[in-house]
Amino acid sequence: MLRTEFISTGFYVPERVVTNDEFTQWMDTSDEWIRTRTGITERRWVANGQGGADMAHEAALVALSRAGLQPRDLDCVIYCTLSPDYFFPGTGVFLQRKLGIPGVPCLDVRNQCTGFIYGLSVADAWIRTGQFKRILLVGSEVHSTGMDLTTRGRDLAVLFGDGAGVAILGPTSDDGRGVLSTHIFADGRHAELLFCDAPSSARRPRLGQEDLDSGRIYPRMQGKEVFKHASTRMPESVQLALSTNGLSASDIKVLIPHQANLRISEMVQRQLGLRDDQIYNNIQRYGNTTAGSIPIALDEVVQAGRLARGDLVILTAFGSGFTWGSAAIRW
Ligand code: ACO
Repeated sequence: MLRTEFISTGFYVPERVVTNDEFTQWMDTSDEWIRTRTGITERRWVANGQGGADMAHEAALVALSRAGLQPRDLDCVIYCTLSPDYFFPGTGVFLQRKLGIPGVPCLDVRNQCTGFIYGLSVADAWIRTGQFKRILLVGSEVHSTGMDLTTRGRDLAVLFGDGAGVAILGPTSDDGRGVLSTHIFADGRHAELLFCDAPSSARRPRLGQEDLDSGRIYPRMQGKEVFKHASTRMPESVQLALSTNGLSASDIKVLIPHQANLRISEMVQRQLGLRDDQIYNNIQRYGNTTAGSIPIALDEVVQAGRLARGDLVILTAFGSGFTWGSAAIRW
């Protein structure tokens, strides 16, 4: 049976490191509050003029070179983000232009922190049906330009970071390897619990002075609700990934949860009964990079030599929408 394998991975984060202490010059917060509530010690921010497509391009060049491939070998781009470079067109086409591969189809996926898993689900279906053979799957996010850096926005501003991760996916007929399953979910009843209100095509004008003055241009979140749902939905979807494939938590080599908050990851780990070496977290260094967080972490795991052929990798995510899901991969 044809399955989807990860041919290579890569990531890029901007050079600028922003420590927790830096936030104290803009808002009422502290390194201690941020570290104890979230686990984050620093994150990266883009330089002025650097966008998500720029970061994705750097990450894609790394993955292409590791795979011994050229951009022209790609036959599809799937670009996952909640922070597109422009309102329209999607950011995938800007990445495609940088890669110099006109004509190659580009799909933009707007499923926030679960974007990479939604994108993987689509890529997996396309590869298994033979529609595409070399898909560049991207999660890239620029949060730093869209945060309220005053005390009003402190609950969100300290959480997020910029970065991009990619995977090149293709078919394998090596029995038993590759993507075993993906499960994706959404519940729009909670859309406003983690939400950015403006600009909005549902209002005239889409963007006005009132949006700027009221802070509607910045994301807002009911953190406790998000925390509660995230720490329930992620373990649930991991259990589903395991039971679908007749596996149990002890079979997991590495679980890569979306990096939302270290406390959430620790709850997921506890609920699944995983040892420390069975889960990977890097939110301490990058903050929450939303669609970028899973592919960045996956690449770090791969580069650290933690995955051997045949190992079981589980990905899980939860994000705004709400959206959530999981993927099981036999490496
Ligand atoms: N620095 C200092 N104090 C702060 C900060 C900050 N950066 N942010 C909030 N506070 C204050 C609040 O104003 C509040 O003050 P008050 O008691 O005087 O009103 C106090 O700290 C406690 O606030 P809570 O919101 O109750 O703090 P909580 O313990 O819930 O932690 C946090 C907040 C860390 C945001 C938590 O709710 C959380 O992690 N939620 C999940 C967030 C998340 O993961 N979001 C992204 C997931 S989905 C996605 O990735 C898109």
